[in-house]
Amino acid sequence: MFPHHIRYFCGSSLFMHSLIIFASGAGSNAAAIITYFKQNGKAKVSLIVSNKADAGVLDIAKREEIPFLIINKQTLNGTLLIEQMNDYKPSLIVLAGFMWKVPASIVLAFHGKIINIHPALLPGYGGKGMYGHHVHNAVVSAKEKESGITIHYVNEVYDDGNIILQARCPVQAKDTPDELATRIHRLEHFYYPRAIEFLLS
Ligand code: GAR
Repeated sequence: MFPHHIRYFCGSSLFMHSLIIFASGAGSNAAAIITYFKQNGKAKVSLIVSNKADAGVLDIAKREEIPFLIINKQTLNGTLLIEQMNDYKPSLIVLAGFMWKVPASIVLAFHGKIINIHPALLPGYGGKGMYGHHVHNAVVSAKEKESGITIHYVNEVYDDGNIILQARCPVQAKDTPDELATRIHRLEHFYYPRAIEFLLS
């Protein structure tokens, strides 16, 4: 049994969860997560992984002095990446606009610890090729009255893992895909950090 003060130390907010973010784009979700946890201190983003050398998310990593890795298909499928990720002892792997399929080797190595955000109400508007503006174009073209976000666990199949949270917003008849994207991003920036905090608790 630990003396009381050591138990207190271990159980207090001084224990910080480590998050690894995978992202391919601008990184506005990554930025929202970084900012949220900088303020509440329960977690920190310890590594950012991107498949695009010119992704905006890497500018955020540099600005925030967060280590980052740029990967290709070969490194994504290799064992070295898993070892590098393990070095950061992640509590969660957070996909935030990561446009490649996560290989089964990573899903297996971090079973139940990988989550994704999708900019629509799954199972609608999901699957291969359904990402970013493609989703919003499809939702607006179909004249949907409602869209939203889905936060879900990642398994070997695109957009198929168990759903953790969905949040909805209206789609106005006059909406362009860009206007819908802005509304969806607002939902994402609010709910993704809070869903992560919930999963860590
Ligand atoms: C987000 O809207 C996210 O839901 C979407 O990419 C965008 C990334 O924006 N993800 C997918 O479409 C995954 N299928 P960000 O780079 O500004 O965070």
